[in-house]
Amino acid sequence: MRLFLLSLLISLFSFSFSQNNLYKEKYRPQFHFSPSINWCNDPNGLVYFNGEYHLFYQHNPFGNVWGHMSWGHAVSTDLVKWKHLPLAIPEENGVMIFSGTCIADINNSSGLAKTPGQVPLVAIYTGHIENVNQSQHLAYSLDNGITWTKYAGNPILDLHKKDFRDPKVFWYEPQKKWVMVTVFPIEKQIVFFSSTNLLQWTMMSRFGPAGDTSGIWECPDLFEVPVKNEHGKTKWILMHSPAPYMQYFVGEFDGTNFSNESKGDKIYRPDYGSDYYAAIAYNQLPAGHLPTTIGWINNWNYANAIPTTPWKSAMSIPRSISLKKINGEWIMIQQSVTALKTLRSSPIKLKNKTIENVRVLKTKSQQFELEAVIEPGNNSICGIKIAVGNGRELEIGYNAASEILYIDRNKTGNQTFDSSFKRLSRKETPLSLNNNQLHLHLLFDHSIVEVFANDGEKVMTMQLFPDKEDNGIELFSTGTKSRLVKLKVWKLKSVW
Ligand code: FRU
Repeated sequence: MRLFLLSLLISLFSFSFSQNNLYKEKYRPQFHFSPSINWCNDPNGLVYFNGEYHLFYQHNPFGNVWGHMSWGHAVSTDLVKWKHLPLAIPEENGVMIFSGTCIADINNSSGLAKTPGQVPLVAIYTGHIENVNQSQHLAYSLDNGITWTKYAGNPILDLHKKDFRDPKVFWYEPQKKWVMVTVFPIEKQIVFFSSTNLLQWTMMSRFGPAGDTSGIWECPDLFEVPVKNEHGKTKWILMHSPAPYMQYFVGEFDGTNFSNESKGDKIYRPDYGSDYYAAIAYNQLPAGHLPTTIGWINNWNYANAIPTTPWKSAMSIPRSISLKKINGEWIMIQQSVTALKTLRSSPIKLKNKTIENVRVLKTKSQQFELEAVIEPGNNSICGIKIAVGNGRELEIGYNAASEILYIDRNKTGNQTFDSSFKRLSRKETPLSLNNNQLHLHLLFDHSIVEVFANDGEKVMTMQLFPDKEDNGIELFSTGTKSRLVKLKVWKLKSVW
């Protein structure tokens, strides 16, 4: 008995000890969402309901690698601070709970409410039976998303296919119907269905193959987006994940078909870094709220091998989305949600400085937000280095001659866990400057950097695994001098 009590005490002590140490681990992001323990991949079921932003996610409740896919759950009132909730939808009877969507069935079109006025939260996800079938299933919650019941009539949409997944459902007001966007991953097609009750679905149309067809297609989404500086004008963005990256098309949706207006011969990506995947947009945001997306910060080439424990993977900072026509092309504009500013401490500022070779900033940090405006010298390569320490660094740079923005983690620490991590260490994308000014907005959070260039015209997200002491920040310009117009750096508070 004594022995039993002793071992109980020891295990209670070590449990609370490990609980207290959560979110203090090496590499742990402090202002990005990550599950407290175990594996996560895609964001799922993003919906705003009763004053809360729900974030469900692909989760393995039993381990720190992909498996036993179920829906984890968290909520936020500001898209910045998150509260973990109990596992929402667990794997059961050999059916894994793959990616999907969530909607508040405000008019009870599904008939799932039990009392008048009750609003069912409805999740529609892919039921995955390994190597056999993928079909669309439904689960619902009558208590604001805390507990979930799997619908007795599942599956609600079965084409008897092995690969048919990742439904996104939204309400299409002009025709008063629900629209579901899914993929045939192997055929590289996005497939549209409609329904009036969320339970019976009719196929309407297909889109693709188009653009990037090099990998399988996953996680589609279609949403209406305001055009910047053109009051009241909107377009539709169709985006999805051709593995292991993402792409988008801009055009019109008439309730049945999506018609693409993006250039046919060009690939447009929401993110040009190595680590951004499976992003989807929030459903049912309040009027006037910009469309908002969250993506998974990882890459399937090495996702299971990244050196973090007891959790694996994080979500991007939610991004506000709009559209702009730049040189005749529709470009998705992304900015980190404004609520992130609530984490800022008072900034350090610099103005009007020459950058010649290297300028070391006094601030050292692995947890900050930075805004810089740089005028690159002719033929210079200039930019910002972060995670600097003892020969190590991550470089975000601009090549003025070739008009290329790049991010390069080749010199960061801990890269040996997987050869493809090293192989995908440098990413580049063309970027033209206005008035010869490069605008960089950076979020650096221990093992994640998100870079928004020219007010969100191009975005690059990368993981890196630096030592704690690799926390220097430097400006650089090689070839010729560049000019720093202005710079601000805010250390950010932790949300955990
Ligand atoms: C994308 C994906 C989805 C699938 C889920 C499984 O990352 O492969 O297509 O639903 O992850 O976890």
